[in-house]
Amino acid sequence: MTVGRGNLEYSDIYRRASEDPVGFWAEAARAIDWFVKPRLVYDEQKGWFSDGILNTCHNCLDRHVDAGRGDAVALTYDSPVTGALRSFTYSQLLYETGRVAAMLAALGVTKGDRVVIFMPMIPETAFAMLACARLGAIHSVVFGGFAAPELAKRIDDAKPKLILTASCGIEGTRAIAYKPLVDEAVALSLQGIQHVVLLQRDRLAADLDHAHDIDWQELRSRTAGEPQPACAPVGATDPLYILYTSGTTGTPKGVVRENGGNAVALSWSLANVYGIGPGDAFWAASDVGWVVGHSYIVYGPLLVGGTAILFEGKPVGTPDAGTFWRTIVRNKAKAFFTAPTAIRAIRKEDPEAKFLKDIGTGDCRVIFLGGERADPATIAWLERASGLPVIDHWWQTELGWPAIASCFAIGDLRCKPGSAGHAVPGYEFAILDDYGSPVDDGENGNVVIRAPLPPGAFRTLWNNPAGFAKNFASFPGFYETGDSGYRDDAGFLHIMGRTDDVINVAGHRLSTGQMEEIVARLPDVAECALVGAKDPVKGMVPVAFVTTRRGSADDGIISKLAIDAVRAELGAVAALKTVYVVDQLPKTRSGKILRNLLRRIVDQEPFTLPPTIDDADIPQAIALRVNGA
Ligand code: COA
Ligand code: AMP
Repeated sequence: MTVGRGNLEYSDIYRRASEDPVGFWAEAARAIDWFVKPRLVYDEQKGWFSDGILNTCHNCLDRHVDAGRGDAVALTYDSPVTGALRSFTYSQLLYETGRVAAMLAALGVTKGDRVVIFMPMIPETAFAMLACARLGAIHSVVFGGFAAPELAKRIDDAKPKLILTASCGIEGTRAIAYKPLVDEAVALSLQGIQHVVLLQRDRLAADLDHAHDIDWQELRSRTAGEPQPACAPVGATDPLYILYTSGTTGTPKGVVRENGGNAVALSWSLANVYGIGPGDAFWAASDVGWVVGHSYIVYGPLLVGGTAILFEGKPVGTPDAGTFWRTIVRNKAKAFFTAPTAIRAIRKEDPEAKFLKDIGTGDCRVIFLGGERADPATIAWLERASGLPVIDHWWQTELGWPAIASCFAIGDLRCKPGSAGHAVPGYEFAILDDYGSPVDDGENGNVVIRAPLPPGAFRTLWNNPAGFAKNFASFPGFYETGDSGYRDDAGFLHIMGRTDDVINVAGHRLSTGQMEEIVARLPDVAECALVGAKDPVKGMVPVAFVTTRRGSADDGIISKLAIDAVRAELGAVAALKTVYVVDQLPKTRSGKILRNLLRRIVDQEPFTLPPTIDDADIPQAIALRVNGA
């Protein structure tokens, strides 16, 4: 039996994956070219495919060239912000990756070394990731929207041998200088950085004024005579990358992705969830700084011999609300993945979907939404305007690939707006109450996944095995996703929100606890509570409530200080724009801040006062302040 596209119904495949996971994943692992085939498919201590040896870059590039597909298009860089449109065949991408691998090797990067990549959506970023994979080095890509202190935290935790960067990113029409951020992060970091390799972009040049700064092109020329480094054999459970994501505190969680499980899971999901195979173009409109970028902009499409699309632009304003549809059509994307917030932004600019109707969707067969809850109105609008199936699906950085979806490619097109679909083969979900007992269908609870998690999912956090173990501590035998939701009587899973201090702003995962810490450190601020408020485009936006110390500056100044502090310490991506200075925060008699009550107030939802409230007048005063503001 082959686990392929469309030849088995979803329910058969799902059953097989749960009844015989070892057989199922052993078969899926055949899609990968192993230097040493794994015999031990799963071991509780060692994980998936632990005695297998492979190289992810070989699987993404060399083997397709070896198989005679060197002239097929591997990567297309489509950049409406610069006007560039450039394709790389598999042979060309292999060559470019080899050149970057030679650059890294010349700087002493070898297997197991860490490399931080702080780069925008340009082809060199993909070359760099693949070059690390080629050498067996572990990359850690940091999203460009983070501020220097966040980059510094990641540098301190990953302890990279070097940093790869570019002179700027381009956000809409603005160039964002990266070098000052990198310089500041290096200065803040406790880790001695040996080299910063910087790619100068036409739009904005950077000064290379530190002893450790190296010009990318100069290094490339200097190493031109070096042979292309061979693909280092790495163990299946050796890390391919570390990707930091927000937890509940100011310390980000370094999710570790293993080479073997990642290759198998991505190959399987490209074929069976997204319906993408050799020669098919797949476009995930995300950023390489997020998990979607790792899995489905760079590695996934290349693993299956498809065409990866790297888009440098925004859904609107680059140049207009038609840019997504143009990108789909001109690159012949067969499937498309974006965040609901991007569609809401397009809909706001083009409510009649004129661009979509004029431009069409070309060869695209299906649109996937993910990264945040897809509201039924957005799905309905997109379905109507595109005439394509629109599939919401759910996953997390920790998992690396979809866990709830309608597996379009294996015949599961059962969609229900508001639901993210059904468990993907390999995942078994339960909805539990806080004491670990299953709740009834339709009842909200903690969304958990039965352990062990399938290949590709994390098996540790970098430098933090205890933090990893916490994810399995509350509900023995299950992984706690941190999301709440319910299963309806037709078996659809609905994800409704988080159970912790994480919020989702424009598809970006952020920690309210971290923002509170930043604001509360301001000398004028006595206390801060921050909640995620509903937003018609971004899904959610952060809103802060602060109380001030006696004799402090006026409210306007304090609000600005708070907004500036979050931007300077966490980054522009946090998008804190609203701060209410209030006399008191609502608390229980034991002193716990009632954040849920604050959230209801900003969302203008009806609220009842809990019997434990300390001062029943406070919420009303805050509601007046919010509504009158
Ligand atoms: N580098 C530097 N800065 C960045 C950045 C990056 N890669 N990404 C975002 N920012 C900045 C933005 O410029 C903005 O700065 P500003 O406050 O100075 O204007 C800030 O971070 C907030 O950005 P964003 O939340 O993206 O808001 P926006 O108004 O610029 O754009 C959307 C709104 C909806 C168009 C945009 O958020 C979007 O495309 N979202 C989809 C997100 C997505 O695909 N997520 C992946 C999930 S899978
Ligand atoms: P990230 O790790 O950044 O991918 O964020 C993962 C979190 O985003 C999940 O835990 C959810 O809270 C949220 N999320 C992702 N996809 C969906 C979805 N389809 N529906 C609802 N929430 C989602």
